[in-house]
Amino acid sequence: MKNLQTNDPQIAELIQKELNRQRTGAEMIASENFVSTSILEATGSILTNKYAEGYPNKRYYGGNEFIDQIETLAIERVKKLFKAEHANVQAHAGSQANAAAYFAVCELHDTILGFSLAHGGHLTHGHPVNFSGKSYNFVSYGVNKDTEMIDFDEVEKQAKLHKPKIILAGASAYPRQIDFQKFKDIADQVGAYLMVDMAHIAGLVATGLHPDPVPVADIVTSTTHKTLRGPRSGFILSKIEDRLDKGGNPSTELRARKNLAQKIDSAIFPGLQGGPLEHVIAAKAVAFQEALSPEFKAYQKQILTNAKVLENKFKAAGIRLVSGGTDNHLLLLDVSLLGLGGQEAETLLDQVAIFTNKNMIPYDTRKPMDPSGIRLGTAALTTRGLKEAEMEIIAEVIIDTLISRQARDKKAKAENKEKVLALMQNFPLYPEL
Ligand SMILES: Cc1ncc(COP(=O)(O)O)c(C=O)c1O
Repeated sequence: MKNLQTNDPQIAELIQKELNRQRTGAEMIASENFVSTSILEATGSILTNKYAEGYPNKRYYGGNEFIDQIETLAIERVKKLFKAEHANVQAHAGSQANAAAYFAVCELHDTILGFSLAHGGHLTHGHPVNFSGKSYNFVSYGVNKDTEMIDFDEVEKQAKLHKPKIILAGASAYPRQIDFQKFKDIADQVGAYLMVDMAHIAGLVATGLHPDPVPVADIVTSTTHKTLRGPRSGFILSKIEDRLDKGGNPSTELRARKNLAQKIDSAIFPGLQGGPLEHVIAAKAVAFQEALSPEFKAYQKQILTNAKVLENKFKAAGIRLVSGGTDNHLLLLDVSLLGLGGQEAETLLDQVAIFTNKNMIPYDTRKPMDPSGIRLGTAALTTRGLKEAEMEIIAEVIIDTLISRQARDKKAKAENKEKVLALMQNFPLYPEL
């Protein structure tokens, strides 16, 4: 950062401070991770200079000889990783990937059946303030009140009642495996597209550690920056054929002549975006290559092992886990039974350098800005190299902070923070920077 330090010391200093924050604390936000230095280099490369509207070999600008090769590599690698028929790697982020999926097969105000936001769905799955809720008629299914797992009877009931154009599976805060085949069976009964947003679990899916949506879903969207450990971005996989659109509607005649892959591509460009971010596409290509390695599978297994350590420790301490535990990289803790709100729990953990986020729990009676839960994930700490023994120490600090009143006095907090900082020092982050 030599040049930045000279030319814009203010920004350089803030980046340095953020690096220091990332290095010293314990990052447990379930949607975050630490990318490799190769990915950092690609993201910070001269590719940011290039305009490349269009697709490889069909661009609206000259000079794309090398850009085309980069984007083609990204496409081929992600198709190989997920055994997909078609891939679009231009979505700037997960939200744009979802927007494009809806735009590709729906008319405005068509009905989409998605996972309730209050039960763990994402903002782009129909929140009223989001483009999704404003542009489409979202209806929802949730989790069973007792098991806190997806209620497939309700999915079926809602699907039959609303006859949605799309059934959407996938979540931001659901700690259990998702049975995509069950969703597909229901989609087939009502003639709906099956769309899966695998943003959180993409790394687990890529390595066979979570049921695979790609064989059964028409469209799969994802971010690249969570368990998949790539740059902040998104992508879309799809089948080539559109098994549902038989054409015939004059207003959609142009679209009806396209197959599903073509509809996805034209929904991204020219539908929703302009020039693709080729520096990020290069970084995604690097991430997909990394995810194809045996080390990546070992990493994903360790994510699951580490989450199980937390589950066991929290259960033993009497903390209630939504759905009783976890099958993936994340856990939802009901802190209301500890006499805390989610905001207070998040702040208390921040004070001991453990970064988490407050989160609604199913059937929450509190408000989104101070809900009953917090969400924790193990992807980032596992990248740092923490294994079972270290996760036990982290779990003990969390338990102490959330449960023990004495742990909330200044001295106890300082001691707990010191414990976390000392632990994290053994796992250097970006020593070369
Ligand atoms: C399930 C799901 N989909 C989509 C997104 C949106 O991704 P982005 O923040 O990259 O737009 C997220 C982000 O948290 C997510 O959890």
